[in-house]
Amino acid sequence: MIVLMISLMQYALAYELDVNTFSNYLDVQNRHLHLEWLLNMDKKYINATSSYRFQVVGRSINKITLDIYKLNIYSTYLQNGLSLPHTIDNPYEDSDQGSRLNIQLDKTYYKGQYIELSIKYSIDSRSRSISFMTKEQTSTKTMPYIFSQCEDANCRALAPLQDTPSVKQTYTATVIFKDTEAADVFMSADESKEEFQVLHRPQDQAGFTWKYKYFIQKVPIPSYLIAIVAGNIKKVPTSTGGRTFLVSEPDKIEAYTAELKEMEQFMQAIEQYIGPYTWGTYTLVIQPASFPIGGMENPLLTFANPTIMTGTGSGLDVTIHEMAHSWFGNTITCVNWANMWINEGFTVFLERKASYFHYQIPDDIKLNAIIGNTSMYQDMLGFGLNSNFSSLHPDTTGLNPDDSFSKIPYEKGYQFLSYLESIVGEADFQSMLRAYLVQYKYQSIDQQEFQNFLLRYLYEKQVDDYSTKRYKILENWNKWVYSPGLPPVILDFSTPKLAEAYDYTNAYITADGQQPTKWQSYFTFLHSQKQVFLEDLFKQAQNNLLKINVINQMDKDLKLTEEKDFELKFRWFRAILTAGDKTRFIQISDFLGSVGRGKMVYPVYRALNQLDHDFAVQTFKTHEAFYHPIAKNNIKNILGLKENIIQ
Ligand code: BES
Ligand code: ZN
Repeated sequence: MIVLMISLMQYALAYELDVNTFSNYLDVQNRHLHLEWLLNMDKKYINATSSYRFQVVGRSINKITLDIYKLNIYSTYLQNGLSLPHTIDNPYEDSDQGSRLNIQLDKTYYKGQYIELSIKYSIDSRSRSISFMTKEQTSTKTMPYIFSQCEDANCRALAPLQDTPSVKQTYTATVIFKDTEAADVFMSADESKEEFQVLHRPQDQAGFTWKYKYFIQKVPIPSYLIAIVAGNIKKVPTSTGGRTFLVSEPDKIEAYTAELKEMEQFMQAIEQYIGPYTWGTYTLVIQPASFPIGGMENPLLTFANPTIMTGTGSGLDVTIHEMAHSWFGNTITCVNWANMWINEGFTVFLERKASYFHYQIPDDIKLNAIIGNTSMYQDMLGFGLNSNFSSLHPDTTGLNPDDSFSKIPYEKGYQFLSYLESIVGEADFQSMLRAYLVQYKYQSIDQQEFQNFLLRYLYEKQVDDYSTKRYKILENWNKWVYSPGLPPVILDFSTPKLAEAYDYTNAYITADGQQPTKWQSYFTFLHSQKQVFLEDLFKQAQNNLLKINVINQMDKDLKLTEEKDFELKFRWFRAILTAGDKTRFIQISDFLGSVGRGKMVYPVYRALNQLDHDFAVQTFKTHEAFYHPIAKNNIKNILGLKENIIQ
């Protein structure tokens, strides 16, 4: 009886709150957003009007509060023209969470009623979402370039929004730009056949023409999935199948298309596990090198860093990962950033299933899980094994949720799902995931809801040994989610290929500056195995076991300093800097000035900073203009150059 009451109570409880939004989203929620943006790419600002259709969903209201970050707000008014007073305040002074925009309504609105209002504002180069780049910072050097990066709490720097993954809305947009400043513009939406009414039509002037593009996203999405890219870019189809496309600057587009010829097959491998892709087309944008992350799953328009194009296909796991977000993250979304594993853990799980279907190399999946586990452990040590940031449920009250970003939601989330799969059985787990997608399509949920669904599904399906399975699922659940540090159950991903990689490191170390007999086996290693070897090398360096003569012999044999594949190169530089090697500073500085992907740049800055702080700072100053605002900020933190670090 008590058990029944407790489980009924769980159903009655609402989802978890989002502590990282200032919006009154429990009372009122936006259903549709329309953006009208006039891009001034050279002058680095955007004149904007945003229009909303809010619906009261909770208590009656006379005020709407939205999230903003360094936006210039000019006016707020009802769409019938009535001006509405607004104020701006900062509930957390100097906080990375931004400010609160309070809009006073004309009267009280009650549950079910709609409120249509608009805001005139502008975005400038202080934006932490939009990167305004000069033409010199691009590859073709012909036009300026802009791109946005909103996850997780940066869309408040793009428009006044309910910046929480728990609210979903459809959106449309009109983008107005000069033909001399951008060849094309794309958003995380379809191009609309219908032209929208334009509120502010600029005058044409000598020397350029204003161009108009119209976008529509018919699927309700959380605001962190709004995205834009503009510059000297063009779009071409990749592979057969007619639904996959590539966008990039024109100079590299042919090479990129060649490397992406299997994009359709990647999609099919994912569909084989999880069911049909329902978003329509899929476009991958290869951004300039300063793009701060590996990839971002903006719907219909994934953004990726050019380091994923290695020429050998070795970086394409990022593409599979971002495609997999179309189901986990973009269709079912986490309700707040504490539940990020509902996006990332599930996506890694699907990515590895698809990767297995496509490449058929089971060892590769295991090795990737091991590499992921190693980075996760490093992140845990960075936060502290007892910090709640080392759990699957970090508390980021008053902070920018980005501060808790780590591999933990990815890898602990992946391990948790693999563990649940081992209890449930592969076939039932797969069909459960398909049913889960049907049940929560276009919704945002928390981990408790996933648990409820999983148990309900198994019960209703009358699976064998239901009560034993239920017991096992619940036995460690809260430890998996809430306990910091290593997971309660350690999974075994070992394979002989792991030992082979470790033996290879040892052979070099034992050879003490000579060439070991099996030195050529590196060239037959899986790409993941090469990463394991380089991770191991870093560990040896940390333990003072990697000597300069060994480094030199390895470099002579394996040409790692000249490596074009940055996934390998950054690990090599991190290892040799940790070993105290100061002889490759020029190449390391060149590397740090040619890539802005945090995963690759931060570890090298960390190692460089420990070895030679002055040189690290000098290197950063040399390349500062190249980095994205997010990366710049993180590097400053690493080098201790930030005056106000918000704890
Ligand atoms: N959604 C993430 C990127 C992200 C997460 C941006 C959190 C901001 C905050 C994306 O899907 C991702 O996980 N990218 C990874 C690559 C992936 C293969 C693990 C990256 O950029 O490293
Ligand atoms: Zn992801």
